[in-house]
Amino acid sequence: MRPHLNNPGGRPGIDPAARKQVLRLLHYGLYVLTAASGNDLAAGTVTWLSQASFTPLLVMAGIRRDGHVHAVLGQSRAFAVNVVGAAQQEIASAFFRPANVEGGRINGYAFERGPATGAPLLTDLPAWFEARVTDAVHRGDHTVFVAEVVACGVRTPGARSLALFETPWSYAG
Ligand SMILES: Cc1cc2nc3c(=O)[nH]c(=O)nc-3n(C[C@H](O)[C@H](O)[C@H](O)COP(=O)(O)O)c2cc1C
Repeated sequence: MRPHLNNPGGRPGIDPAARKQVLRLLHYGLYVLTAASGNDLAAGTVTWLSQASFTPLLVMAGIRRDGHVHAVLGQSRAFAVNVVGAAQQEIASAFFRPANVEGGRINGYAFERGPATGAPLLTDLPAWFEARVTDAVHRGDHTVFVAEVVACGVRTPGARSLALFETPWSYAG
């Protein structure tokens, strides 16, 4: 099927405005996804993340093909997910840009290396897990990585996570 010239990424019969509205009605959270290949550290705020299986315990993440996170993840085949808390919008926005490690901080925030994968864990964020990639679907402008959860931790019991609809941002459609 040929893509619509006036509807990049779209298909004939799919109304671009409706498509945007429908896909932006899906619920998303905000997470700082990190990866490490030796001393090459990557971190970015992502929304396209979900659990995908109970047994084995799998998650899936959609990661931009042209970013640094994608490049590092391709090497490490593992990542960490740091859950952004409800009052931590500012931290989420600090990771819309590529990782900058300075003075033991990443984009200005303290971190430690994950016990299983070495991926950065942001110590201000309320909960985290680490996962090893089992599969990758290289189809569109994002790669879908499927990964098995291998470690997790809670720093702030009872914390509420930030939802995308509570922010001024969108990343869908
Ligand atoms: C609201 C919002 C949601 C985002 N969600 C994703 C996402 O799910 N996957 C992704 O790869 N990038 C996402 N991004 C883009 C990353 O935050 C951005 O590319 C970041 O710089 C990643 O680091 P990198 O460029 O070093 O790979 C999102 C950006 C915004 C503003």
